[in-house]
Amino acid sequence: MAQIRLDKFLASMGQGTRSEVKKQLKQGRVTVNGSACKKPECKVDPELDEIALDGTALAYQPFLGLMFHKPARCVTATEDGRWKTVMDFIDHPRKRELFPVGRLDLDTEGLLLFLNDGELAHRMLSPKHHVPKTYFARVAGCVTQEDVEAFARGVDIGERDLTLPADLVILSVQQAEGRKMPPEQAECRIVPECPKTGENYISEISLTICEGKFHQVKRMFEARGKKVLYLKRTAMAGLSLDASLAPGAWRILTKEEEERLQSTC
Ligand code: URA
Repeated sequence: MAQIRLDKFLASMGQGTRSEVKKQLKQGRVTVNGSACKKPECKVDPELDEIALDGTALAYQPFLGLMFHKPARCVTATEDGRWKTVMDFIDHPRKRELFPVGRLDLDTEGLLLFLNDGELAHRMLSPKHHVPKTYFARVAGCVTQEDVEAFARGVDIGERDLTLPADLVILSVQQAEGRKMPPEQAECRIVPECPKTGENYISEISLTICEGKFHQVKRMFEARGKKVLYLKRTAMAGLSLDASLAPGAWRILTKEEEERLQSTC
């Protein structure tokens, strides 16, 4: 493995922020192959060197997984002439090993996983494995019980087969901003019965699908004559997007999350 800075290695092992790690180094708490090293810029090879903090060896972990909150207006690719890519947000020292698992559209936000394990990523994306993915969406118009039933049966999005049964939950149906609310609905802002056309209404929904066809969520609503206005992935393969991650931020998967991925996929 390539050599990396000692402070970067310690931070990547979850030993603290870069400034916390620099403090630990300054205090002489870090040893490299048995000798104290106080220099953050010291180069180490995590696979060959024995690095310890307060006498406890920091074992090099071959598996690396990150949870990323993808913002809108960035592409799930490694390079792009026009837009920022998801890779531009990752400054992990082992970034070169990582790749995004699956794709989110340019305007879709939310949970994107980065792994260095190609086999696990393949299992997560394989149509055979039916790995669940949950999305929050704002949809123009009124999403109805008929849509819920249609998604549960499978809809025609122009592929050979109908989509697999999907779990659609209607969270709210509200009159669009700027429109005057009828007084009897003004307090709760929730409209229990939509007018048939659904004009000037916005629905918020949660949808769990077990496949990942191109633009699948948008195409499923299109098949019901509805347009997705906003889309965010909130969960995948049993992992939920960490609410403390702002758009553009990432963190290393916990051991428990890693185990859940291995057992779900
Ligand atoms: N479905 C979509 O339509 N877009 C995405 O980005 C993800 C799922």
